[in-house]
Amino acid sequence: MTDLKWWQEAVFYQIYPRSFADGNGDGIGDLHGIIDRLDYLQELGIDAIWLSPHYPSPIFDCGYDIADYTDVAPEYGTLDDLKRFLDAAHQRDIRVILDLVLNHSSHQHPWFVESRSSRSNPRRGWYVWRDGVDGGPPNNWYSGFGGPAWEYDPATGQYYYHFFMKEQPDLNWHNPEVKRAMWNAVRFWLDLGVDGFRLDAIDTIFEDPALPDHTAPMTQVELYWADACAKSEEERQRLAEPRRQMEQHQIEQPGVHELMQELRSIVDEYPDRLLVGETGKVSYYGDGNNELHLAFNFPLMKTDRLTPAWVRANQEERLAALPAGAWPCNTLGNHDAPRVYSRYGDGQNDAALARISLALVLTLRGTPVLYSGEEIGMTNAVLEGIGQFKDTPLVRRYVQLAEEWGSPQAEAVAMVNRMGRDKCRTPMQWANAPNGGFCPAGVQPWLPVNPNYAQGVNVADQVDDPGSLLSFYRHMLRMRKQTPALIAGDYAPLHEEAEDYLAFLRTAAGQTCLVVLNMSDQALTVCLNLDASTARSLFSSNGQRGHADDLSRLQMAPFEIYIGELA
Ligand code: NOJ
Repeated sequence: MTDLKWWQEAVFYQIYPRSFADGNGDGIGDLHGIIDRLDYLQELGIDAIWLSPHYPSPIFDCGYDIADYTDVAPEYGTLDDLKRFLDAAHQRDIRVILDLVLNHSSHQHPWFVESRSSRSNPRRGWYVWRDGVDGGPPNNWYSGFGGPAWEYDPATGQYYYHFFMKEQPDLNWHNPEVKRAMWNAVRFWLDLGVDGFRLDAIDTIFEDPALPDHTAPMTQVELYWADACAKSEEERQRLAEPRRQMEQHQIEQPGVHELMQELRSIVDEYPDRLLVGETGKVSYYGDGNNELHLAFNFPLMKTDRLTPAWVRANQEERLAALPAGAWPCNTLGNHDAPRVYSRYGDGQNDAALARISLALVLTLRGTPVLYSGEEIGMTNAVLEGIGQFKDTPLVRRYVQLAEEWGSPQAEAVAMVNRMGRDKCRTPMQWANAPNGGFCPAGVQPWLPVNPNYAQGVNVADQVDDPGSLLSFYRHMLRMRKQTPALIAGDYAPLHEEAEDYLAFLRTAAGQTCLVVLNMSDQALTVCLNLDASTARSLFSSNGQRGHADDLSRLQMAPFEIYIGELA
């Protein structure tokens, strides 16, 4: 495995700093809290952390609205704390990548404050300003977060463009000064020793400068409503085409790939750094070696039910689409998506299905990215009143829908719970203690803690229980690390018609592993006709396996996870 890069071998773990661990007892997670939990992460067996934005921010979009690209939010600590965190992680052989938001800054960033101060301000051209047309905005584009993409600024009589909220004005990447300032920020962190970046929203960096109207067949509110009423993820996916038309002049516009190449060449000046893009598109791998090192396999997670057929189809398409030399990256959850435990559960076998989900991302070919809290089975939290929600864009969408369509309170709150992102951002549950052990008793956490910490969904209750989900995570992560074929091996599907189980081989130099995931609640027998007739069990969630499992009749218990090394 020596010819693989660290990020090809690593398992990543995403930390949402506000919600991970509160080190100073103010109800907000911080860097001290993270440092205190590094031993926990080392024990868990992860190799790298992706830290969601840690920068000063007015928190209109939970930190994805940056007010200073080279500092640390005071509520999270200081730059020295960040250096301490980096050192402490590195001492434990844990790499750290930061989140980098290139598309937009906060409206409170001094760059934007200057830019909006007058038409002649030297920073005017750092953002996208345009005159209105016929008393309205420059065109009919929408913001991806709802409502028009243009905000009128009465002080200077022009509109500025924002793909996300109006508090997140888009930077003008055609301006070389913007590029210079951002590349300086990139170098600042690389010089400090960070191992790379997760790049936010790269698809939206450029927009068509001619500003043509979109020609989508429905309004955005109609699209939202159709989305809110969709009964399955598949139904929701049918809205992808009208959504694409709506955003056709705002997404993946000319120039973005050249920009990624430029960024890659900067990052390549430093040894061994990584760029992973918040995009599902393989086009961002460039030729396989000149844009991003990784792009998330988002298509894999876009379903309500991970079935063998779904996974096989995803792998077939994804692996074939990757340019030569490109490395896959698999994930099932993050701070924008429903909790894995809730999303892929069926309400009856959730604990077993959560194990299947982990086994899947750890055994498919590519770098796995886990989201904090998955390891203890954190579920989607249900917030009760609109006042509890902190996901501002979704609260605004609620207002927009309620105003345009009229929507009873309870129904609207349910909708924000379903569509909003607070449900997967609630504080990490460390113990069966007040506030789930996230912050001291009597302190109000920034988002309510999911009360199921009292039902065993917490670290302290699971850490010494060999049957817990946490122990399963630790075990699987250790096993993966010791199994070269699971890290470096090719992927070859088996039994492609099987409806209930997923079977595939991973083959690297000197080792072939068989992975069989019984994704059903029925026991079954898998009859394999391979070069080898037996396998040595490396892992079975059923516990009773030996050194020569008969592959011609492999008995699989319901939801069993089997990993064996071919003889
Ligand atoms: C993607 C981030 O993951 C999401 O949380 C954020 O709201 C948008 N980009 C805008 O930055």
